[in-house]
Amino acid sequence: MSTPRVRPAPTVSVLSEARHRDAAEVFGGAYLVGPVTDQMWQRSVQTYAGSLVEGIVEEDGSVGAVARSFDVGLAVPGGNIPAAAVSSVGVRADRRRRGYLRALMEHQLTTTRQRGAVVAALRATEASIYSRFGYGVASSYATVTVNRRRAVLREGAAASRSLRMLAPTAAVEELPAVYERIRSARPGTIERPAWWWASQTERHLQRDQPVWVLCTVDDHGEIDGFLIYTSSERDHWDDPNRAVIRVLDLTAIDETVELALWNAAFGLDLSEWIVAPQRPLDTVLPLALTDPRAAVVSSVEDETWLRLLDVSAALSARSFASGDPVVLGVTDAIMPDNSGSYLVSQDGVERTDTEPELYCGVGELGAAYLGGTRFAALAAAGRVGGEAEALARADRLFRTPQLPWSGTYY
Ligand SMILES: CC(C)(COP(=O)(O)OP(=O)(O)OC[C@H]1O[C@@H](n2cnc3c(N)ncnc32)[C@H](O)[C@@H]1OP(=O)(O)O)[C@@H](O)C(=O)NCCC(=O)NCCS
Repeated sequence: MSTPRVRPAPTVSVLSEARHRDAAEVFGGAYLVGPVTDQMWQRSVQTYAGSLVEGIVEEDGSVGAVARSFDVGLAVPGGNIPAAAVSSVGVRADRRRRGYLRALMEHQLTTTRQRGAVVAALRATEASIYSRFGYGVASSYATVTVNRRRAVLREGAAASRSLRMLAPTAAVEELPAVYERIRSARPGTIERPAWWWASQTERHLQRDQPVWVLCTVDDHGEIDGFLIYTSSERDHWDDPNRAVIRVLDLTAIDETVELALWNAAFGLDLSEWIVAPQRPLDTVLPLALTDPRAAVVSSVEDETWLRLLDVSAALSARSFASGDPVVLGVTDAIMPDNSGSYLVSQDGVERTDTEPELYCGVGELGAAYLGGTRFAALAAAGRVGGEAEALARADRLFRTPQLPWSGTYY
């Protein structure tokens, strides 16, 4: 009888720029989109250069697994916190189910916290993977589909703005600063690095589809909103089902300016439908229409998966709504120094030895952190413990005026 081979535990290391294309190849293969062509690499090279790329290198020198992360600011209620945005996670098909992902994730949680990140955030291709690593769904988004010919804004709903078109290439120069200035205080939005803009523009331009950038300009001549849109079916305007404008990005300083941009979109003749994926669940659009059914909000999906790396720092960095304090009992199997009791009140947060009134895992706390998921709902789903009254107190403190939303894909 032969003895089963004991594999050494996988070692995670930082991949230098010379290995980035190999890393992209592993990721592309894992996502079934490889091999990485020169054109694909041209789109991604800056993305990798702007990130910390960690991976598992095999004995023969090939890359077996990869995960990328980069530092951003993340808007939380009352502030902005340092966060690590995680992306491009993939394990080579011949190295699956032997602990590579676990090794990568656990290593990454430690290194990102050492870099100063208070939370890690990612988008998950499969919803069954990341809760075991302490991530929870902190925000969701929906697709807004508008019947353009029926859509009329109610009087006075939109800010009065003049419009200006920008060339997509000019957008790379102008929009990053505009975005950072007008980025909503809505919890969940993130900074967009310069390479993010460059790679998005490259992506749009390589699509062989027209892309337009329409901006709103305020009374001082400043851009305070922009709409980036495309149309893939421009040869079929006579077919009502195919005459579709697709919104790629819609960012505005406030909701009245956002409505001004929607109004501009309603003026895009020839199209029958406007489809805007990845919009906030509490979009005001239907409320602002004379016929609210001209806009349908559908296809709700999870957006930001959030992992609190330093629970104390994360709780202390956000503000809380008014209400009575509550003691949260948090458990974190991977980063056990986060486990313990936290007294949360509208005046601040401190660690305490008091018996918790509410029990949750770090993933459930991540889901509730930005105000997008209620503790009472998590309790009803059997994921949080505590009396109804304590759950209600926690929900009062964590509530936010707007639902969290990111709107930035990475
Ligand atoms: C998903 C993927 C990264 C998993 O990598 P892996 O090295 O095989 O995973 P591991 O062996 O380290 O498994 C870690 C844990 O995740 C679980 N797991 C692995 N793949 C999973 C999947 N597709 N769905 C649900 N759970 C999964 C394992 O059962 C294991 O659970 P446990 O530790 O609680 O027992 C890999 O299959 C892959 O690259 N898939 C394609 C790309 C992808 O989906 N990436 C995720 C990006 S968001």
